[in-house]
Amino acid sequence: MKGMVFTELMDMVEATFGSEVLENMIDGAQLPHGGAYTAVGSYPHEEIVRLVQALSECTGIAVADLVKAFGSYMFGRFHEMYGRFFSDVHHAFDFLASVETYVHQEVRKLYPDAELPTFETYQPDPGCLVMVYRSKRGFGDLAEGLVIGAIQHFDEKITLTREDFEDAQGKATRFTLQQH
Ligand code: HEM
Repeated sequence: MKGMVFTELMDMVEATFGSEVLENMIDGAQLPHGGAYTAVGSYPHEEIVRLVQALSECTGIAVADLVKAFGSYMFGRFHEMYGRFFSDVHHAFDFLASVETYVHQEVRKLYPDAELPTFETYQPDPGCLVMVYRSKRGFGDLAEGLVIGAIQHFDEKITLTREDFEDAQGKATRFTLQQH
């Protein structure tokens, strides 16, 4: 996982919970390199799981809730850092449909070693968007937080439902967004 994701987590934790909780999280995760990350480096994705588990122990907040909150925060940061992916995009459905076909393709050009999920995205009718998330890393909570971040960003009336399932291709998460 790109170091940028780790440095963003550290920034969010410091801003939300303060520097003492940040230090306790890093100590609690017991990482081989003492929790020093550079934005351009790559690190095992298990480390982010350990950091969030340690944060959960420090704060008493459930891991899934922390990961979702981090996803929404990351969406805002992506918007700040990668404004070009948002030009001419005015609706949550248009943006979310472009994550697989455009955004993550561009990310892969920038960072060839990025570990990205796949999204199968389709609209069964104009008011509904379905995204099926698949990844060996199983970051469905992160994906949910990012989708929530997108809905909030575009400020649209959309109800999100989530369903984790397993089929012949393995574990997956289906997000259904219904406009109303
Ligand atoms: C401008 C918007 C976005 C940018 C620039 C972006 C970029 C990235 C980057 C750099 C990573 C890390 C790759 C790595 O660590 O190796 C990542 C991972 C990920 N992205 Fe995006 N992303 C964007 C939007 C989204 C949205 C809206 C979603 C959800 C619908 C999403 C879902 C994910 C997930 C779940 C991962 C974690 C990796 C995994 O699950 O296997 N991204 N993205």
